[in-house]
Amino acid sequence: MTEAVQNVAQPQIEVENLNLWYGEKQALKNISMHIPKNSVTALIGPSGCGKSTFIRCINRMNDLIINCRVEGKVSIEGNDIYGKGVDVVDLRKHVGMVFQKPNPFPMSIYDNIAYGPRIHGVSKKDIDRVVEDALRSAAIWDETSDRLKSPALSLSGGSSKGFVLPGLLQ
Ligand SMILES: Nc1ncnc2c1ncn2[C@@H]1O[C@H](COP(=O)(O)OP(=O)(O)OP(=O)(O)O)[C@@H](O)[C@H]1O
Ligand SMILES: [Mg+2]
Repeated sequence: MTEAVQNVAQPQIEVENLNLWYGEKQALKNISMHIPKNSVTALIGPSGCGKSTFIRCINRMNDLIINCRVEGKVSIEGNDIYGKGVDVVDLRKHVGMVFQKPNPFPMSIYDNIAYGPRIHGVSKKDIDRVVEDALRSAAIWDETSDRLKSPALSLSGGSSKGFVLPGLLQ
């Protein structure tokens, strides 16, 4: 991805001269982009052009990829997210990502949904309600209510897709 896009109305996320390499291979080349607040921004381009790579830079998920190196600046509300002392877990609490493929954690159905509210300090009683509400909203409560402690990885492909939704609804 090499395009530089400018939209300076109330930038929420500002990207300046972002470059990224997977080993020797450069996947992002000098990206500068202002993403405005309270609007929908779409990244459109051919498969493999670097859309997911770019989006992963916004919550530092590329940090988890061995041999991945990032240069440049990404700021959210004026804070440099690649700056010293940034708590990446806290960053990812605020910048979520929905993956192309459903990707439950290797834990129970209940714990997959409870994970987010728990790290935000929500009480056990309220988490029970959040889990039920989320599964009902995703239309898979009837199918899962009697096996909340079963591994989420045992869900069928279709249910796994619905399962991405509770994460969004928390
Ligand atoms: N973990 C990785 N290690 C090495 N190369 C990678 C890795 N992830 C992506 N790439 C490469 O980086 C380039 C950009 O990939 P990316 O997944 O960001 O593309 P994309 O635009 O999201 O594609 P799609 O539309 O298919 O989802 C591709 O050439 C891809 O093969
Ligand atoms: Mg992609």
